[in-house]
Amino acid sequence: MNHFVSMKNLSEHEMLQLIKLTNDFEINGIPHFNEKIFAANLFFEPSTRTKMSFVVAQKKLGIETLDFHAEASSLLKGESMYDTAKTFEAIGAQLLVVRHPEDHAVQELAKRMTIPVINAGDGSGEHPTQSLLDLYTMYQEFQSFKGLNVVIIGDIKHSRVARSNAYALKTLGANVYLSTKKEWQDETLDFPYIDIDDAVAISDVVMLLRVQLERHQDNELLNDAAYLEQYGLTKKREQNMLRHAIIMHPAPVNRGVEIDSDLVESKRSRIFKQMENGVVARMAIIYHLFQTRGIGHATAFNKRK
Ligand code: CP
Repeated sequence: MNHFVSMKNLSEHEMLQLIKLTNDFEINGIPHFNEKIFAANLFFEPSTRTKMSFVVAQKKLGIETLDFHAEASSLLKGESMYDTAKTFEAIGAQLLVVRHPEDHAVQELAKRMTIPVINAGDGSGEHPTQSLLDLYTMYQEFQSFKGLNVVIIGDIKHSRVARSNAYALKTLGANVYLSTKKEWQDETLDFPYIDIDDAVAISDVVMLLRVQLERHQDNELLNDAAYLEQYGLTKKREQNMLRHAIIMHPAPVNRGVEIDSDLVESKRSRIFKQMENGVVARMAIIYHLFQTRGIGHATAFNKRK
C-alpha cells in the first residue's frame, strides 16, 4: 500500500491488518517517531473531524503538522492542487493528507506524487479513513463482519462514506443494504435497496448519512420534518431495531433531518465513539504507510495514549 486513497481495491487481509493495528494501538499504546517528520494537511474543502483528528493523530505519533489554509494560500493566485502538493513535497513534507471537492481528485494526485498520499475525502468519491474508523467501531461491537447486516440510509448518491463503506463491508463478508428515496439511489453501487422500515428491523448496524445539499445540482429545498418521517431514523423506527443493533453516522449530523436529535446521544448511538476512533484509526493508517515506505523509525509503543 503506497497511498491510502480507496477502500475499493483493498483486500480483506489488508483491511483486517489495519483494523488489528488500530486495535493494537488502542490496547497496547502507540509508537513514536523521534526524528523530525513533517506531514501536510491539504484541505480544499471544509472539515472539522477529519482534519482535527489527523492533527491529533500526527501529534501523538511525534509528527510535525504543516497546516494549510486554502483561503489564505497561493491557490488564490491560480496555483493548482498539484503544484500546491509538489510545493509541500519540495519543502520537506513526507506525507500529504488531502481533501478535495472533486471525485477522484485525490486518487489522480496520488498517482503523480512520490510521497504517500491519504485521501481525506474526495467529492462524492471515497472517504477511506472514515471507512476504517467505521469498520473499527463495528469490530469493537461485533468482532467479525461475516454475515453482519448493515444498512446505509440517506443521501447515497452524493456520499463518499456510503461508497467506501459499501465496498469495504462487502469485501469483509457483511450483507450491505441501501435505503433512500428513488432520486438519491446510485446505480453504480451494486447493492440491494430496501425500505427503511424493513431495513431497521433486520440490521445489526443502522448507518445514517448526512443530506449533502451542497452537492445537489437541483437546488432542492428539503422539508426537514417530512424527510425525517419518511426516510430518517425516528424514535418509532428506533424501537423496531434489533436489541443489540447500533446507530452510526459519520457526522456532521443534521439533527432532526436524517435522525431524531434525541437519538444522537442515545444508548445505541456510536456517533461520538466513531469520532474518538478516528484518531487511533488515522494513526494506524499513517504508521502502516510509513512502515511500508520505510519512512522514519518509531520507538517502542507508548502506553500513554
Ligand atoms: N465525517 C467527516 O468527514 O467529518 P468532517 O467533514 O468534519 O471532516
